[in-house]
Amino acid sequence: MEVAYYGGTFIDIDEKVIPIQERGHQFGDGVYEVIRVYNGKPFMLEEHLDRLEMSAKEILLNMPLTRDELKAITAEGLQKSGINEAEIYIQITRGIAPRNHIFPDVPAQFAMTIRQAKQFSSEKREDGVSVTLLEDERWANCFIKSLNLLPNVIAKQKAVTNGHDEAVLVRDGKVTEGSSSNVFAVKDGILYTTPATKKILHGITRAAVITCAQKLGISVVEKDMDVEFFLSADEAFFTSTSVEIMPITQIDDTVLPADRPLTNKLYEAYQALYQTVNK
Ligand code: PDD
Repeated sequence: MEVAYYGGTFIDIDEKVIPIQERGHQFGDGVYEVIRVYNGKPFMLEEHLDRLEMSAKEILLNMPLTRDELKAITAEGLQKSGINEAEIYIQITRGIAPRNHIFPDVPAQFAMTIRQAKQFSSEKREDGVSVTLLEDERWANCFIKSLNLLPNVIAKQKAVTNGHDEAVLVRDGKVTEGSSSNVFAVKDGILYTTPATKKILHGITRAAVITCAQKLGISVVEKDMDVEFFLSADEAFFTSTSVEIMPITQIDDTVLPADRPLTNKLYEAYQALYQTVNK
């Protein structure tokens, strides 16, 4: 059963509960996290909560709940849902107050949903996906997991409208990340990814994949990739909590080689990681 939480209580996921003066609703004034649950247990929960607290601090928002309270609510929600392979969505906003750009002196609001995780067939993962390169039109603080996703949703929609699965964003001629994912390329046996600066979200999956690569003895280089380099990759993939590792088979008109030894190895290692941790 899908579960939702708002205003300090569990509610029906379809219940209409967000007040018109909610700042998340009126300004996108808040931060969020998406956490994958494998085998009934949240995966890399501490890392997600670290990032949530960091994002809140960066936007000068006081967390309405302690970490232990957050954990208790997610655990209760998971139990209520009975979903073993779930996706937890958590959002913190600056609360409910008459519309005014100045921060109100009201408590922050916590919202959560728990739904079945999207699962991709092995055929889909084998087929990989096509991406399109689009200008990165976002703000300067993409490391904050802010609710302001307008440029991201526009980029994703443009990609899908043009027959692709994801948009890979490009700023000043360099690949930054996907509209909702981080991006990797493999060239001559080396794994490349954009450095974790303010220009990208510091993906939890990205960090886990880098650790997997290092354990496998694969060299990892974090550097800005220009478009020519990305198009000439031997392999490319993107990562996120929901999609895990997804091979990129085509970048606009450029078809990448069908052989993807490192991507496959890394995906096996990533699966082994969550299977071991969430046994
Ligand atoms: N998005 N970059 C962006 C812009 C993202 O939105 C995401 C995740 C990532 C990958 O981060 P992580 O590995 O921590 O999930 C990178 C989530 C899944 C979303 O918005 O649904």
